[in-house]
Amino acid sequence: MTSHTEVFRDYARSYPALYHDKNYEAECDFLEHTWQRFSLRPVKRVLDLGCGAGGHVFPLASRGYEVTGVDRSPAMLDLAKERARLPLAKAPRLELADIQTLRLGEAFDAVVCMFAVLSYQTSNEALLSTLRTARHHLAAGASFVCDFWYGPAVLKQQPADRIKEVRDGDDRVVRLASPSIDTEAHVVTVDYRVLRLHGSTLVEETRESHRMRYFFKPEIELLMQLAGFELRHFCPFGQLGQPVSQESWNVSAIGLAIWGRVIHATRNRRQRPAEQRRYFPVHAFDTFGIARLGLLSQIRRLVVEGRSKFLEPVRRPTLADGIDGSGDRNPAAGDSVEA
Ligand SMILES: C[S@@+](CC[C@H](N)C(=O)[O-])C[C@H]1O[C@@H](n2cnc3c(N)ncnc32)[C@H](O)[C@@H]1O
Repeated sequence: MTSHTEVFRDYARSYPALYHDKNYEAECDFLEHTWQRFSLRPVKRVLDLGCGAGGHVFPLASRGYEVTGVDRSPAMLDLAKERARLPLAKAPRLELADIQTLRLGEAFDAVVCMFAVLSYQTSNEALLSTLRTARHHLAAGASFVCDFWYGPAVLKQQPADRIKEVRDGDDRVVRLASPSIDTEAHVVTVDYRVLRLHGSTLVEETRESHRMRYFFKPEIELLMQLAGFELRHFCPFGQLGQPVSQESWNVSAIGLAIWGRVIHATRNRRQRPAEQRRYFPVHAFDTFGIARLGLLSQIRRLVVEGRSKFLEPVRRPTLADGIDGSGDRNPAAGDSVEA
C-alpha cells in the first residue's frame, strides 16, 4: 500500500508543469475577499495546510502576509523551498508535518487548505483531526477557507478517464488519469500514470494512486461544528457570489472559528445578521469567578450583542491567550490548552 509520504513523491516532479495554468494569484484574490467579508479579525499571519509547492504561499508572502506552509510530502515541500530562495516581501516559513496532528504552538489570523487538500483526508477521523488542527491555530472570529470535491457533482458527472498533456521545458509530460469510485466510502481512487517524453523517447514513467473523498454540505457543516467552526459560506470553487450546483466539482467552504457557547447564545437571541455578530473571549470573566455568582449569562448576552463598553475590541491573539489564541478553551475543538 502506498504510504502518505509516497503520494506526491513522483508526481511532484511534474506538478509545476501539470498545473502551470492554475491561477494562484486569482485564488489569493479570492482568499483576500473572503477575509474581508467574513473574518472578524484583521489578517496578517496565515497558515496554509497542505501548501504543496507553495502555490498560495508565495503570492501571499509577496503581498506582505506572514505565511507558514505545512505539507507532509518532502518532494512537494522541496519544490516550495526551491521557490523560497527568491527575494520576497516576507519570507515564508515551511514545515514538514502531517496536518492531522500538527500543533505549532501559536495562533494565526487565518487558515487556508486549498486545492482539495481536505479530499485527501478520506476517513471521518482524518477529516475531523484536520479541521481541529485548523481550529486549534485560530482565535475565535478568524476564518478557515478550504475546498474539496463536491458529492452531488461527482455523483452526477461521474469521474472519467482523462488525458492531460503539457510541455515541461524540452520535455512533454502526458498524464493519464484512471478513476474508480467507491460510492459507499465516498472515495474516488485516481490512478495516475505520468509519462515524460523527450522527443519520441520515453525518459520516465511513474504511477501513483490518489484517494480523494467527496463531501456533502451537511456533513462538512456537521464536522466543522464538531471542530469549532460555523460554516459561513459554501460556493463553487473561488466564486463567492455563485450558488453551488451539480456542475460544481470543486467547492469552497468558509468556516468561522467560534467560541461554542457564545455562538449558541447568539443563535437563541435576536437573529442578527451574521456579519454583525461579534465573538469575544469571555475567559477573563471565568477567571474572576463571576460565573459562580450567576452573572455569566447576563455578561455573555452583553458581550455577544456588543453592548458592553468595558470590553476591549477583538485583538490579535498572543501565546499568553492559550494555544487557541483566544484563550477560549473551546470544548468543541477537542483541544486542551497545552503548556
Ligand atoms: C493537490 S495538492 C495542493 C497543494 C497546494 N495547496 C496547492 O494549492 O497547490 C495537495 C497537497 O496536500 C498535501 N497533503 C494531503 N494530506 C496531507 C496531510 N494529512 N498532511 C500534510 N499535507 C497533506 C499533499 O502532500 C499535497 O502537497
